Amino acid sequence: MSRNPEKFYVTTPIYYVNDIPHIGHAYTTIAADILARYNRFSGRKVFFLTGTDEHGQKVQKAAEQRSLSPKEHADKMVVNFKEMWQRLNISNNAFIRTTDEGHKARVRELLSSLWGKGLIEKRSYTGWYCVPDERFWTEKDLVNGKCPDCGRDVEQIEEQNYFFLMSRYHDALIKHIEKNPSYVQPDTRRNEVLGFLKYQPLGDLCISRPKKRLPWGIPLPFDEEFVTYVWFDALVNYYSGPQYLASADTAWWPADVHIIGKDILTTHAVYWSTMLMALGLPLPGTIFAHGWWTIEGRKMSKSLGNVVDPADVVRAFGERGVDTFRYFLFREIPFGHDGDFSKKALEIRNNKELANDLGNLISRTFTMTSKYFSGLVPQAEIEPEMKTLAHSIPEKVELHLKSLQFQKALEEIWNLVSYTNNYIQSNEPWTLAKSPEMHGRLAQVIYSSLEAIKLLAAYLYPFMPSWSEALWKALGYTDALTKNSLGNLIKTPLPAGRKLEEFKTLLFPIASYAETAHDVDVVAGYAFVGKKEERKKKVEEKPAAKPKIEQPINEGLIGIEDFAKVKLRTAKVLLAEPVKGSNKLIRLEVDLGDEKRQIVAGIGKSYSPEELIGKTVVIVANLKPAKLMGVESNGMLLAATDAEGTLSALTTEKEVKPGASIK
Ligand code: ME8
Ligand code: MG
Repeated sequence: MSRNPEKFYVTTPIYYVNDIPHIGHAYTTIAADILARYNRFSGRKVFFLTGTDEHGQKVQKAAEQRSLSPKEHADKMVVNFKEMWQRLNISNNAFIRTTDEGHKARVRELLSSLWGKGLIEKRSYTGWYCVPDERFWTEKDLVNGKCPDCGRDVEQIEEQNYFFLMSRYHDALIKHIEKNPSYVQPDTRRNEVLGFLKYQPLGDLCISRPKKRLPWGIPLPFDEEFVTYVWFDALVNYYSGPQYLASADTAWWPADVHIIGKDILTTHAVYWSTMLMALGLPLPGTIFAHGWWTIEGRKMSKSLGNVVDPADVVRAFGERGVDTFRYFLFREIPFGHDGDFSKKALEIRNNKELANDLGNLISRTFTMTSKYFSGLVPQAEIEPEMKTLAHSIPEKVELHLKSLQFQKALEEIWNLVSYTNNYIQSNEPWTLAKSPEMHGRLAQVIYSSLEAIKLLAAYLYPFMPSWSEALWKALGYTDALTKNSLGNLIKTPLPAGRKLEEFKTLLFPIASYAETAHDVDVVAGYAFVGKKEERKKKVEEKPAAKPKIEQPINEGLIGIEDFAKVKLRTAKVLLAEPVKGSNKLIRLEVDLGDEKRQIVAGIGKSYSPEELIGKTVVIVANLKPAKLMGVESNGMLLAATDAEGTLSALTTEKEVKPGASIK
């Protein structure tokens, strides 16, 4: 992954300082962290840069609303990012802010250089201005001739601005991307960029804003009445950062990998690449645009209230929460693809792979070492077959991480987890322990398992650094894991006779779906919580009931208080199967959000069990339990039946969460 194999420079986008860091920002930053840690551990010199993008209209507006200067506002907001990265064990070497003097000076230097080369031109052009929004739009931005943001009238104005002569690099850029298949990755993104470049002319890039319209930016060195356009400022961070934030003994530029989301592919692959070409600077090795996370199938947005705060996920999974979160993000989805973040998926990965596969391996091996060898690493050699497998993993991981295939790297590592679990299972150390003559064999089985666990600490370190360090200590090592190099650590077997330490903190707690669902509701942070409160408020704010109108006494009518006794709720069908011996009854396991239940419904003649799975049905939730053909039913599914006998289960017109109450 490094063109100079001795050093490795990786970046994340610099995030808008106005945002609160969420799962999307965490994803990119953890990806960069995995690469940074992996490369350091492999003995390379690493520079890992992240930071914040602090100029522009939005920051200026937000600051005004808080009666702060833009810089004061940014100073307060930037803490959110810095604290989040600490919490998620991010090992960035530096944190760049575009308001740093060091950065601003470099932006101005580069602008001067382009100006000197005649690659920037002042032009006059007309466009449309939305006065209340203070925003400039081009003709094609407008929606029905109005401001696309607020829908109000726009004014035509003529404006002078500076343009970078990007069009000159059109052919050179296509050639570069074609000649260097790893320049834009993954391939789908590379094809997208090439498609975009090949079938339309590349224009020049407007790189300024008049200061009177937007004062919060870096003034152009050759015309102080203008500030530079945010992208021209932001992209330069990758180049400027190491110049004043890294020690001077290494020339870091060009970066090996820029990791970004697919939302900012064009700005990187086209603007940044051509800027560098014009400046005569080398291009980065790879621009990797990863996919987009949705939340429970929906776009993440503040207005939907489903923004996932990583801190809440971490909290929901206990002491090992950071490790669970980091593991999940990169095991779940191939890097480059879009992914959906759901409570269920998180729970499954945590419970199956971490709590069960990995946790059981550690727990069994440590417990048996304690029981059969007084907690001391026995004297033996690693099983040859296990050694072959375990030692073949680093080479594969290196290949996968070179192409940012985190998921494949984890799959390779997990082969060792599964192998070792099976190895223990089939060698039955508990049986060996019964025969004194099998003592040597027992020592070998336990020793091999411990050696595999030691290697797992090393292999998983980039993904789950705090877990790996803790495991390293539990294996009785007194130095830090990272004081060793990966290569050395593989070569040097676990020394016999060493006393193992407590392993309990290495285990991942099993999270039950209901509990997790509850916590993960909190996970969704201010968002979901806010929504719930809103709902509650709406209920409380309901206008007082209308004065009671005397009803004529009528046997068939009930009062609202009678109806209120019936608790109707939505339920999602998780599982459905016919009740043995009945062609009508179906046993359903349903999810009510805060609990799971079994109910039995007499709808087998109209529905097959398979078609019910995944449906949101309506049930009477407070019905006394009853037994139907010996199977307990805790509630009743509602269905409509007409005179022809057509039966249809009730469902909701819009998607609602399981457990929603029906009134
Ligand atoms: O664009 N899924 O900053 P930004 C995955 N300042 N990744 C996501 C995501 C999601 N749902 N939401 C955000 C900017 N991201 C500019 C960048 S760089 C010179 C200037 C991640 O705060 C992803 O990495 O809008 C995306 O590219 C980035 O956050 C956008 O961050
Ligand atoms: Mg954005």
